[in-house]
Amino acid sequence: MEPIQWSRWMSVGNDALDEDHRVLIAIVNKLYDDESRQDPALIEAILDELIAYTRHHFAEEEAQMEKLNYPTFAAHKALHDRLTRQVESYRDEFRAGGSRISGEEVFLFCSDWLGKHILKEDTRFGEYAGTGAEMVAG
Ligand SMILES: [Fe+2]
Repeated sequence: MEPIQWSRWMSVGNDALDEDHRVLIAIVNKLYDDESRQDPALIEAILDELIAYTRHHFAEEEAQMEKLNYPTFAAHKALHDRLTRQVESYRDEFRAGGSRISGEEVFLFCSDWLGKHILKEDTRFGEYAGTGAEMVAG
């Protein structure tokens, strides 16, 4: 198991979205750290941060998709919504105490989801959007 590394293959050709993805990777990688992964209160705080940042980022990405009439927008948004619900439910479990899932498992789930989502789903939108030159950042 490794922390996620940004790679150029993850670029969607849009600086603002790429930067968001780097921030998301950095937040998820906090769960790679042994000490934070053992501390339920810290895991909860990291998941809170992840939820807040994904909300901001997904809204931005979805706005770009809608603006460019991305054909599979609804399916892509459904992936975002499902992920958000899953991370919220992990966060709620840690908040309630006695979580059945370990910090390591949460890290594995989030890193796997994020890496695959960026590489397989977001880059597909990046290709659709062309070079990204016509996309408005921010
Ligand atoms: Fe996405």
